[in-house]
Amino acid sequence: MVSMESSSSHLYERLGGEIGIERLVGRFYERVQADEHLAPFFEHVPMGRLKMMQKEFFSEAVGGPLYYTGRSLRQVHAGRGIRKEDLRRFTGHLVATLKEAEKELGISPQETHAIYSRIAIEADRITDDVTESA
Ligand code: HEM
Repeated sequence: MVSMESSSSHLYERLGGEIGIERLVGRFYERVQADEHLAPFFEHVPMGRLKMMQKEFFSEAVGGPLYYTGRSLRQVHAGRGIRKEDLRRFTGHLVATLKEAEKELGISPQETHAIYSRIAIEADRITDDVTESA
């Protein structure tokens, strides 16, 4: 668990706290599941639990006070055939969701970038392929 300075806790509040982050995660998965390339990965997934885990994960990414209690990201994603291209699409939807919130909530582009970086840093735990796909 990484400790963060108080400005990060303010970010949690400005995102609307737990409810706000829940809304953000909901919008994010709307985009992901509307993407025909990504939807199949989530077909048999209990989305309620996934969104709850992502709410924790996003909250931790902005400095708490909620922290991730889920499984290891490597274990969760291994063997699903997730390629770098899928990851790129996934993080593309994340950026789009955050950009939308930026406008609505007055989050700065630097803050958006900080959230995105914290989440994208997990990338090498997610994909099964070792080479960059076309
Ligand atoms: C940096 C990128 C990503 C992060 C941080 C991330 C994070 C997470 C987290 C926190 C969970 C919940 C784990 C739990 O239930 O204990 C999860 C589950 C899952 N993720 Fe990701 N994820 C990422 C990218 C992806 C991508 C690119 C895909 C597919 C294209 C994907 C597919 C899934 C699926 C299918 C589950 C549900 C597993 C299950 O409950 O059976 N994830 N992810």
